[in-house]
Amino acid sequence: MAVDSKLHDSNVIVRPARSVRGVVRVPGDKSISHRYAMLAAIAEGTSRFRNFSAARDCASTLDCVSKLGCEWKRLDDGAIEVGGAGLRLTAPTEALDCGNSGSTMRMLSGILAGQPFSSELCGDESLSRRPMARIMTPLSEMGARIEAADGGRPPLKIHGGSLKPIHYRPEVASAQVKSCVLFAGLFAAGETVVEEPIRTRDHGEIALRAFGAEVERNRNASRIVGGQRLRAIEAHVPGDLSSAAFFLCAAALFPGSQITLPGILMNPTRARLLDILMQMGLKISVAHLEEHQGELVGTIEARGAAWKGAVVAGADTAVLIDEIPVLAAVAPYSDGGLEVRDAKELRVKESDRIAAVAANLRKMGAEVEERPDGMRIPGGQHLHGADLDSFGDHRIAMAFAVAALRAEGETTIRGADAAGVSYPTFFEELGRVAGR
Ligand code: S3P
Repeated sequence: MAVDSKLHDSNVIVRPARSVRGVVRVPGDKSISHRYAMLAAIAEGTSRFRNFSAARDCASTLDCVSKLGCEWKRLDDGAIEVGGAGLRLTAPTEALDCGNSGSTMRMLSGILAGQPFSSELCGDESLSRRPMARIMTPLSEMGARIEAADGGRPPLKIHGGSLKPIHYRPEVASAQVKSCVLFAGLFAAGETVVEEPIRTRDHGEIALRAFGAEVERNRNASRIVGGQRLRAIEAHVPGDLSSAAFFLCAAALFPGSQITLPGILMNPTRARLLDILMQMGLKISVAHLEEHQGELVGTIEARGAAWKGAVVAGADTAVLIDEIPVLAAVAPYSDGGLEVRDAKELRVKESDRIAAVAANLRKMGAEVEERPDGMRIPGGQHLHGADLDSFGDHRIAMAFAVAALRAEGETTIRGADAAGVSYPTFFEELGRVAGR
């Protein structure tokens, strides 16, 4: 086996592979699952979701909504049901633990800002280091009172109440901030507008519409009028393209590899990854395109071929932000390498992803130039197996398991259980498709 997928003291061993072949069904999209669970909680009626994300992060969201009075359950067929309370939730009797999930904390804050009670949101060590001022500023402008630890870090205490609408122009391009403000806008008297510097993923807008709200979009501005009631929905969550990215990059490592990924999210605000991978030489085709509750879904077929280099900068960096770790981890094996610019945000993810990628690549013997807002990784390098750290970050754990498939010798990924934050069965799946 190329991947010893059983966790030994939360470590995983990865050995070199010769090709990657097979069909992988990745978990439901994490971004959409969070939004569905939160909107189901404030909708009228019971919502039902098939292929809801298996991620630990989404379990944190479900746990929080149940503490806000919305019961959820898993049905025999694996679907989950969330009972909606309407716009008015129940005051929690304990802190809402968001675990490792920045999405849970930032987006749920928008809903809590509009509730006539106070609540506290906390998280694990990594989440406790992440910046929350980006949501505190707009929510305070709308009238909520928010307390945070020094410099705007969790835990947060949100004293909600009646909100006033705002026209908000966030400095950072963040879909979490946009969704947070639009969710808060549901509770404001009048029209709330979010005008983004760069168009980010639009799952918040699409989900709000699926639940029956009117959301207008014009270029980079999204508008919502407060007081709209949401209706429960039934939905199938598309497969997560950011999870599929690991298998696409694994296929890119070996000419002749072939991977099929059915039912993957094809939302254009997420699918830029496919263009970049194709530019880099991966042969990709998409079939069976369908639409589910406003989201595009398709089956991806990918074949490994020559692997060229790429530059990721500007708007591309913002829309590819979650896939940069894996693109960077496999970049040394490409012909032209990878240059990443305008990626300061990578430093404030679940780990400092620029530092984590550089540290692990160097341990594998690679040359990397680390920059304040990016990195440059030359191509044409030979890497060796090494003892690597996940830095407690799911995407770092998975990215380096992929990179290790083409290294010489064995690699240990320490803290590999972090992968469960977005993809609990990742190592089993990678082991199944990676042939020696
Ligand atoms: C997400 C947005 C991105 C992304 C995160 C999920 C979302 O974060 O990195 O994994 O679901 O809206 P930012 O909004 O901070 O860029």
